[in-house]
Amino acid sequence: MTNKKTIKAEDLRSARWFAPDDLRSFGHRSRAMQMGLGPEDWEGKPQIAIINTWSDANPCHAHFKFRVDDIRRGITEAGGFPMELPAISLSESYVKPTTMLYRNMLAMETEELLRSHPVDGVVLMGGCDKTTPGLIMGAVSMGLPTIYVPAGPMLRGNWHGNVLGSGSDAWKYWDERRAGNISDEEWQGIEGGIARSYGHCMTMGTASTMTAIAEALGMTLPGATSIPAADSNHIRMCTASGRRIVNMVWEDLRPDQVITAASVENAVTVAMATGCSTNAVIHLIAMARRAGVDLDLNDFDRLSRTTPVIANIRPTGDKYLMEDFYYAGGLRALMSQLAPKLDLTCQTVTGVPLGETLEGAKVHNEDVIRSLSNPIYKEGSLAVLRGNLAPDGCVIKPSACDPKYFEHVGPALVFDSYPEMKAAIDDENLDVTADHIMVLRNVGPLGGPGMPEWGMLPIPTKLVKQGVRDMLRLSDARMSGTSYGACMLHAAPEAAIGGPLALVKTGDMIRVSIPDRTIEMMVSDEELAKRRSEWKKPEPAFARGYGWMFGRHVKQANDGCDFDFLETGFGPTAGEPDI
Ligand code: FES
Ligand code: MG
Repeated sequence: MTNKKTIKAEDLRSARWFAPDDLRSFGHRSRAMQMGLGPEDWEGKPQIAIINTWSDANPCHAHFKFRVDDIRRGITEAGGFPMELPAISLSESYVKPTTMLYRNMLAMETEELLRSHPVDGVVLMGGCDKTTPGLIMGAVSMGLPTIYVPAGPMLRGNWHGNVLGSGSDAWKYWDERRAGNISDEEWQGIEGGIARSYGHCMTMGTASTMTAIAEALGMTLPGATSIPAADSNHIRMCTASGRRIVNMVWEDLRPDQVITAASVENAVTVAMATGCSTNAVIHLIAMARRAGVDLDLNDFDRLSRTTPVIANIRPTGDKYLMEDFYYAGGLRALMSQLAPKLDLTCQTVTGVPLGETLEGAKVHNEDVIRSLSNPIYKEGSLAVLRGNLAPDGCVIKPSACDPKYFEHVGPALVFDSYPEMKAAIDDENLDVTADHIMVLRNVGPLGGPGMPEWGMLPIPTKLVKQGVRDMLRLSDARMSGTSYGACMLHAAPEAAIGGPLALVKTGDMIRVSIPDRTIEMMVSDEELAKRRSEWKKPEPAFARGYGWMFGRHVKQANDGCDFDFLETGFGPTAGEPDI
């Protein structure tokens, strides 16, 4: 399986810019010389793009400002020529209304940066939630040799000696604060301790899930995604990735050899075993389809039923975080436990098959990385439910919700918008019990817009004070991978395009069965037809610009929310530039 093909220097894509004795190439060369470079810097050398998602607005990628130099060092050592190309950083911390609105923009930007510049291979620098799928989607569509460099998780949070986990502990302590159990001073202590180094969220949120998926697909160096951002091993991994991409260019090892139906199946299996973020479903469908692999919700549900959760990491696990996972052996150790369920012949960016990259991997803490016979949860972390409320599916994370809701019938409490829900949630007179199913709609890909992470609806304050910490919730939104609870998400088709979620009314009874994978509103077909005839399509959220384009072309959650015109089958890409 090792990729031995060697391409010649004159066949490098970048040679088309730099080699010919013509006026255009004179321009390219003279402008490289403007930067103090000379022919010895580029002649016969692979030019390597480094797509860097650093920005002042992205704390998770703060170290990319200097890590990029470690990648450059590796590229230069291996005889390549680095070219840093910055891209939108998609900071989960700051971008409103949601980074999800812009994931496809990063994918487009990545693809077009690569298409339009004189580069032969690419290093992708990402980590914060949407950056991993956005970067990989674009690079896959372009098809140049590609290696992914993950930002790495931040260190464990700390407050008064208590370990704090990204997101999860923010929600948890916020509920305690609403219940009156936490003082202002204590709250400020938590604020200062929950994110104490650069790196992405260190729970098994969307960032850790998506980087694990990138590694399981074979797109990173082995073990790369588990290394904490602040660990010096992270620097060495960056440099090694820079060295490796140069040889990938000579070997002509491209993403289509790495991302295949088998490696996508491996990635789903690994995601399930980690207790992954629900966002994995949307992103991996989009990534796989860019590679021509027709992944769908049924594949997730099928693999979920046979893959136990063996990573004891919050929020599915009870106490550990990514730093513990690294010390316990990291993703290589987890994949070695999962080996019987993986296709070990899959190609990786290393040039050797997955099985070889796992040789020697060991588990150093069997409570953090469990064996298949001692999982923390017997089935995978996700279930796909369907029924008259979500004919194209919705997703729930049973491993992170109270088992008493696995079979449940209760009345709906419906909110048409986030502001409406927010205004009601603290009302002591709100007519709600722990048996209600709270519904938030018009928050999907078009309705949100951009499908914000509003799916973990807050428990009404009245119930929080009674000690309620979980209840069934349903929406066409997503939720943060660091969230938890009995939240049914991604209901498709979404309410804003007339999905049946638009028809449910407060007081309707809803029946949920996770074992049967069903969600039904107990309303007659005649009544639903009547409500449908009265339904009015909401106005589009955007009348111009990127948002307008998003509204016309984004697909539903079950199809990965990609743009229809970027899907692999939409049409051939433009040829390479010959001018
Ligand atoms: Fe960047 Fe969570 S905010 S990964
Ligand atoms: Mg997140």
